[in-house]
Amino acid sequence: MNIEAIGVVGAGQMGNGIAHVMALAGYEVLLTDVSQQALDDAMEVMRRNMERQVSRDKIAQADMDDALARIGTTLTLTDLGRTDLIIEAATERETVKQAIFEDLMPALKPETILTSNTSSISITRLASRTDRPERFMGFHFMNPVPVMQLVELIRGIATDRATYDACLGVVERLGKTAASAEDFPGFIVNRILMPMINEAVYTLYEGVGNVKSIDQSMKLGANHPMGPLELADFIGLDTCLAIMNVLHDGLADTKYRPCPLLTKYVEAGWLGRKTGRGFYDYRGETPTPTR
Ligand code: CAA
Repeated sequence: MNIEAIGVVGAGQMGNGIAHVMALAGYEVLLTDVSQQALDDAMEVMRRNMERQVSRDKIAQADMDDALARIGTTLTLTDLGRTDLIIEAATERETVKQAIFEDLMPALKPETILTSNTSSISITRLASRTDRPERFMGFHFMNPVPVMQLVELIRGIATDRATYDACLGVVERLGKTAASAEDFPGFIVNRILMPMINEAVYTLYEGVGNVKSIDQSMKLGANHPMGPLELADFIGLDTCLAIMNVLHDGLADTKYRPCPLLTKYVEAGWLGRKTGRGFYDYRGETPTPTR
């Protein structure tokens, strides 16, 4: 399968990162979202992130200019029908993703590969509701996409070898490394990472440490680049809670129960960096712990 044109659904944090790395690797990219503002914002974020890479000599100015020229945007989802590989990076809600695949299907070329950047929804279940479960798989990037080396590739029960190999080829062309994960809740990264973050929230909830001491402990004591609560804010507390619920429901083990304090922050709308407040308050000069 020759992949040259890539469709990206969703221009948020993950979608714009995916479009960014694909365009720099030489793919033609078509990015879609439901709002023109989201598309404009995404182009601006990509330009800023590429400028940062130019200023640090990671890429040349010409690479940036060529990459930005390879990214097209559209408000019409079905325009993506002419691409060879589609990566859905919309809101992490199964009904939303399912509706996107349903709308896309009539417009797709028979050979187009459909993938989802979902961090936790069953690939097999998403695939089963499309017309091409054998050409469907999970293509899971880590945040921030331009920096993180790993991509999880998740095969559903029906995914065929050619589809897997084609996606692996894309990961290699990006200069990233693929980890092959089976289709079980949370795959590999979130199965391990989210219980750690959830445990950090329990540590806070039970008063063992405050936000600062918990984050410092893991940064200085375990060499993590970010503390678990800072990382939770970076990922989004709603996303963390949704993934814990998927682990809890899907694996039916109480060890995955989400911490009530995490639920409370989400109920408050304190979702982390994206809303200006989570375990830290980002509205001032420097982030200040909220506990
Ligand atoms: N685009 C391009 N470059 C970026 C970038 C972006 N969005 N964000 C950061 N960078 C680059 C910087 O330019 C810098 O480059 P150099 O090394 O060339 O100088 C480098 O990344 C480091 O950035 P900073 O110096 O600004 O900041 P830092 O040293 O604190 O690193 C970080 C930032 C890379 C985010 C680091 O803190 C980190 O690795 N944190 C952990 C991230 C993580 O765990 N991500 C996974 C989340 S889980 C997930 O994504 C899966 C899921 O389903 C929830």
